Amino acid sequence: MSYQENLKFYITTPIYYVNDKPHIGHAYTTVAADIIARYKRQIGYKVFFLTGTDEHGRKIEKAAEERGISPKELADEMHLVFKKLWQNLNISYNKFIRTTDEEHQEAVIYFWKKMKESGDIYKGKYVGWYCVPCESFIPSSQAEDVKCPTCGRPVEILEEESYFFSVGKYKQKLKEYIESSGFVKPDFRKKEVLNALEDLGDISITRPRERVRWGIPVPGDERFTIYVWVDALTNYLSGIGYPSQRANDFWPADIHLIGKDILKFHAIYWPMFLMSAGLELPKMVFAHGWWKVKGEKMSKSLKNIVDPFEIVSLFGADALRYFMFRETPFGQDGDFSEEGLRTRYENELAKDIGNLFLRISKFAESNFSGKVRKVSPPSFEGIDIENSFLSWKSSMENVDLFKALGEIFNLVSYANRYIDQNAPWSKIKINREETEKIIFNCAYLVKVIVFMLYPFCPETGKKVAQSFGIEWIADESKPKTKEDILNHSDFFNIKSTGILFPKIGG
Ligand code: MSP
Repeated sequence: MSYQENLKFYITTPIYYVNDKPHIGHAYTTVAADIIARYKRQIGYKVFFLTGTDEHGRKIEKAAEERGISPKELADEMHLVFKKLWQNLNISYNKFIRTTDEEHQEAVIYFWKKMKESGDIYKGKYVGWYCVPCESFIPSSQAEDVKCPTCGRPVEILEEESYFFSVGKYKQKLKEYIESSGFVKPDFRKKEVLNALEDLGDISITRPRERVRWGIPVPGDERFTIYVWVDALTNYLSGIGYPSQRANDFWPADIHLIGKDILKFHAIYWPMFLMSAGLELPKMVFAHGWWKVKGEKMSKSLKNIVDPFEIVSLFGADALRYFMFRETPFGQDGDFSEEGLRTRYENELAKDIGNLFLRISKFAESNFSGKVRKVSPPSFEGIDIENSFLSWKSSMENVDLFKALGEIFNLVSYANRYIDQNAPWSKIKINREETEKIIFNCAYLVKVIVFMLYPFCPETGKKVAQSFGIEWIADESKPKTKEDILNHSDFFNIKSTGILFPKIGG
């Protein structure tokens, strides 16, 4: 039995619309979730990592019409593109859910009935705006100049019969939950959620079937289609088996990882629906910022959409995974540029990191046949390795992936300075034992660094761990304690890592 077998961790990404192929923004959320999932598995949690595609609604219906195919054909084609990207990016999800899955649709109907039984659903008339790209109802007071306040695109005016979700019972309860817990993260987002909650009216939760055919019909009144956000949010339950008891193994979710544009749906609508259906609330909704390009939003019309397939084929998955969390604090907006990525690739990944691993492993191989013993316990001046490790760990726990990577980089810089100052290549000529000590210390630093780097750069982490004979680092089925990581093994058996980040052409 592993030492933390009782610990479970459930993390989700948004499910992505299948109207178009994924861009760098979609890759961002999923990679972040993967980093956290891998980290949690490393330290012994039983993790469930859910991702998938949001396939219903007017937006998809419209995209399919434009291409002259059925919405199902579009979804069947496009969900595979997402799956392919996740494969290219080494995403370790446990389940990929599609909202057209039979079990999901049944779960949505069950969930709807639960809210209905609670007396929270009533019929009325919606008069106001609707943004199809965001699939969002916008009260007329919030539509600026007939533009969507979230995406800035034109909205449609609607006047239609609708079922509503009555928020009255839940407003105060949710307010208290938000104020008293770490539910909304980062902290600076709390205020905007509380303000939106204050202004919230009852939520429209259907579209007339004659206007939106592509979706799940309302049970008992098939003239209506369930609002796509009710359908989509329920994936977080259906993905773990709801309404079967199985869902209790992982519910409530530990983290719903999302972008800032969909915070209202996750931090207001979703918890209210859950309260109504009698379910526990997720522990955290973390909203990250947006990638822009030269300060502009990515858009088809500006032709500035960054294709993650291209970036991965040029730089490799680890480089993109690394760059996205090294460049910008997680939670803030960032500016994506291929030049920026190239610079970090050359200076940090190839030079500071790749070269560090290569020169230590090569030196050990050519001077000690790779066999490096512990002459004395490793000791370092000017750094406290345990502190660095613990600070990395607490950053990972706080979803501060930028700070965690910064911590890793401090250790990398230290290791480079250490090897330069101790110059084993000169010392080997005069004192073999002293040199072995230096190389052992270096290998020890590598062990700690690789453990910390692995969730960000799993391919590199695996390779380096193998080269240094510490394969268990990349074995997520084996939980590791702080002691495993920081303890001094007696021996390293090292092979050269080879070049980890080769020169990129162009
Ligand atoms: N289908 C809904 C989510 C339903 S979840 C129950 C949706 N899909 S989406 O495909 O439009 O967006 C998915 C995620 O990608 C969102 O978290 C969004 O914030 C993120 N991003 C889309 N563009 C982005 C950037 N330019 N930068 C960073 N993330 C961005 O919304």
